[in-house]
This record gives sequence, structure tokens and C-alpha cells, in this order.
Amino acid sequence: MLSDPIMYRLHTVFEYYETEVAMSKLEGFLYEMQGFTLMVLAEQGPGAGAIVEIGSFKGKSTGWLAKGTKKASREKVFAVDAFTGSPEHQPGMGCEDHDIVRIGTTLEAFKRNIAAIGVDDYVETIVAKSEDAAATWQGPIRLLFIDADHSYEASKLDFDLWTPHVVRGGLVCLHDIGHWDGVTEFYDREVKTNPAYREVLNVMGLVVLEKLS
Ligand SMILES: C[S@@+](CC[C@H](N)C(=O)[O-])C[C@H]1O[C@@H](n2cnc3c(N)ncnc32)[C@H](O)[C@@H]1O
Repeated sequence: MLSDPIMYRLHTVFEYYETEVAMSKLEGFLYEMQGFTLMVLAEQGPGAGAIVEIGSFKGKSTGWLAKGTKKASREKVFAVDAFTGSPEHQPGMGCEDHDIVRIGTTLEAFKRNIAAIGVDDYVETIVAKSEDAAATWQGPIRLLFIDADHSYEASKLDFDLWTPHVVRGGLVCLHDIGHWDGVTEFYDREVKTNPAYREVLNVMGLVVLEKLS
């Protein structure tokens, strides 16, 4: 007879491996361990309210989030993106993207990927600039994931526009902390010392904050 702790550990590894195999086929900017973290938080994280993602690209992080919340039959994922790429995805830039070069959008790839991994029924796609979507957003958010334009100004704008909707005890996740200058400087200067938030996890630059007030 195997004990519950042994079975739990094995289950976690099997679940990670099984999901990682499917998700690693999707193009995107996310380590699989970060995706697994988002999945677990979407499935079992605190609070009640929508899951909102700012910056979906081709659906990698969206897919992990949707898999988690779907497994628990909880709230859907709202994926906010203009799907025209960040500055670094534009032709000639450091992370030039072939879909942006070819057709100017990643929306087709996003839809294809979300359907391929079986979560299109759990994703509401909002094709809009973050600031435009925020202007009409209503309702509580329990998990906010910000991964759009990584400049200082854009990171601050996304944070300031969307975090007021996050419920107390809810989670705010920021990506690429320690990897991109703008968002890292914003985090260090304006979020880390903010008493309304407490850092609860840092998975290879995916910072998870609990909203305290
Ligand atoms: C780094 S990618 C997101 C990566 C994605 N989370 C993943 O797992 O692969 C950044 C995305 O943010 C989007 N974006 C950048 N600025 C935006 C803005 N102001 N409003 C909406 N989307 C924006 C871009 O179109 C791009 O798809």
C-alpha cells in the first residue's frame, strides 16, 4: 500500500509531465514550470472572480490558465491582447515573429492553439489594447496575469488599470521580472515596497503577489 504523500508526489509529477508534453508544442514566451504554476493557481487559487490575462500572444499562458480553471469548473479566462505583437515582435526587432511579419497578427495562431489543446470553451478572447479593454471591464478578478508590453510605462499602466478589479486575497502575476529592464524597474520601484501587496512566489521571473487590501 502506498501512502497518500507518495501518491500525491507521483500524481504531481505525472500531471506536470503529461501537460508539459502538450503545451511545449505551442509557441510562446513562458517556461513550462511557470505555466504549471499558473495552471495550479487557476485551479486551486484563492478568491472568486474572473481570470484575466493581459498579453496572450499565441495562447501558451492562456492555455495553462484555462486548463487549470477548467479542471476545477471555475471561472473562465479572459484573454486581452491586440494580437499585433509587442515592440520586440515587429519586423527587424530582437524577437521578430513570423506571423506578425506575414499577416500582422497572432490571432489566428492563438485561436488554433486554444482549440488544439481543448480549452476554447473556457477562453473569452478580447481583441483590444489593454487600456481600451480596461475602460469597459466590469466585475471582480481573482487572478490577474500581466505579460504585455514590458516597458516601464506600459507595465505601470497595465498594473494601475487592472489591479483595482482584483479582489482582496486575489493574485496578481507579473512576468519577466529580472529578465526585462522596464518591467523589473517598475516592480522594484513601485510594487515591491507597496504594502498592499505581498510577494508569495517567484518562479524563474514569474512573480506572484497576493493582494492584501
Ligand atoms: C510577451 S507576449 C505574451 C506572451 C504570452 N503570455 C505567452 O505565454 O507566450 C506580449 C503580448 O502582449 C501584447 N500586447 C503588447 N502591448 C499590448 C497592449 N497595450 N494591449 C494589449 N496587448 C498588448 C502583444 O500583442 C503580445 O502578444
